[in-house]
This record gives sequence, C-alpha cells and structure tokens, in this order.
Amino acid sequence: MKIHLMDGTLNIVDAIYLGLNEELGGQRVFTTSELKRYTNLENGLYLSILGQVFDVTKGEKHYGPGKQYHAFIGRDASLAFITGEFEEELTDDISSLSARQVKTLDDWLQFYNTNYIYKGKLYGRYYNRDGSPTAESDKVQEKLLVAKQEKSLEEKQKRMFPPCNIEWNPEIGTLFWCTNRSGGIERDWVGVPRMLFETASTQSTSRCACVKLDSMEYEENKAMLREYNGCAKYETKCVLETTKS
Ligand code: HEM
Repeated sequence: MKIHLMDGTLNIVDAIYLGLNEELGGQRVFTTSELKRYTNLENGLYLSILGQVFDVTKGEKHYGPGKQYHAFIGRDASLAFITGEFEEELTDDISSLSARQVKTLDDWLQFYNTNYIYKGKLYGRYYNRDGSPTAESDKVQEKLLVAKQEKSLEEKQKRMFPPCNIEWNPEIGTLFWCTNRSGGIERDWVGVPRMLFETASTQSTSRCACVKLDSMEYEENKAMLREYNGCAKYETKCVLETTKS
C-alpha cells in the first residue's frame, strides 16, 4: 500500500517506521525513499556515503540542482567517489574496490564528518532499520584494517629501503642518487641505488631504493632487488643514459 504525501510517495511501512524513528530522537535512520526528498534547497541537500547521511546544503555551489556534484544528492553513490563516474549507474556497492580505495572512500567520509552536518544512517546495504551495522558494513571495516596493515608495511619498507633522489635530463638521462636523507628518511647511512620490486609476483614495476649493502635487510630481501644496468655497483650516484633513437 502507498500513501501520497505533498512531495512524493512513501511506502506505508516506511512511513510508519519513519514516524517511530523520529520519536527516537538522536540518531535517525533514513529510508532510500525519504533520502530522495532532500534534493532541493527547500528541503535541503542530503547525501549518503557508506550509509551515513549528511546535510550538505551549505555546499550548494557543488551540490545544488544543476551543479557539478548534484549526482551525489538524495542517494548513496559511494562507488562514484572513487570511480568519478557520475554519468554511469550510481551505486553504493563498493565490493569491487581495493583496500586502498576503500581507505580513500573512508577519507571522504571523514571529510563530510568534519565539514558538514551528520544526520543519521541510511537503511540498506550498510545499516539495518535500527541503525546497527550490517555484515556488509563489517566487510568495509575489515578492508580498512587491511589498508592500515598495507600502509604500515609500506612505511616499514620505506624505512628499510628509502627512496632515491631522481632527476631526469633529456641530454644526460636519468640520475639516481642516495643521500643520508633521500626519500625524506633521515639515517646514518647513505646506501646505493637499486631497483626494488615491491611485489615479488609481478616483476613489472619497480622503484629506486637506497640499499645498505652490509645490512641484514639487504641479505634478507636480495630477491626483490636488482642492480641498474650500466650503474657502478658501489656508487651512491648513478646515471642511466637516455637511449638515442
Ligand atoms: C573521482 C573523482 C572526483 C570526485 C569523487 C570529486 C568529488 C568532489 C566533491 C564531492 C567536491 C565537493 C567538496 C565539498 O563539499 O567541498 C569536489 C570539489 C571540487 N572538485 Fe572534484 N571530484 C573528482 C574529480 C575532480 C577533478 C578531476 C577535478 C578537476 C579537473 C575536480 C575539481 C574540483 C573543484 C575545482 C572543486 C571545488 C573546490 C572548492 O571550491 O573548494 N574534481 N569534488
């Protein structure tokens, strides 16, 4: 059964639930149909990200009707915060995203928490009717944890193998060199430039790392390191000449 309101149609179950929900005060749980009402300046401009609803009316210049980011309004379009595909079908399904991308999405969520007014939860993929998190929401938290672990591993590796300084000159070629603070890592050694393959499986991408040759870290990670062709083995500075065609 449907009931007709001034500005739209609500399912009767939703309407009763919303009535109860208003009485709860504090945290409000929106239905998708209720959220859809907040797409104009009269009612306000609301958006949802990872199932959390914000009043972004003060950002009218971005979110108002006809403005660049209006597609985010009145719905949960979480995926588009990462893909930037505002023209495609908008969805809150982010299961295709990597841990790192989920972290970026969570940064957007923090952005809205800091800059706009939190209004409550959206009943659906991430929150139940009573506002408790769904299993899908737990999955997001798990991916955030993975992202955190990946980042701390990355930082550990950056301290172990600090990035080189790199300069490119069309006449000379690419210059790699290490100093005792290259890559922003202050240390009491300099190291020599080596190619570091961070993912052992795909030997396709590498970065220049400063390596301390008489270290345990070097001994333990030799498989991931390779000398640059044409660079002297023990030099802290190395030029890879531009190949002339
Ligand atoms: C994944 C792609 C992108 C997403 C999800 C995105 C999202 C957003 C959002 C939500 C805002 C409003 C922020 C607020 O409430 O203050 C914003 C602002 C803005 N975006 Fe994007 N954007 C994307 C890509 C781009 C690109 C490629 C450009 C430029 C070529 C751009 C230029 C801007 C500018 C200029 C502002 C206004 C900044 C200001 O006035 O404070 N965005 N973006």
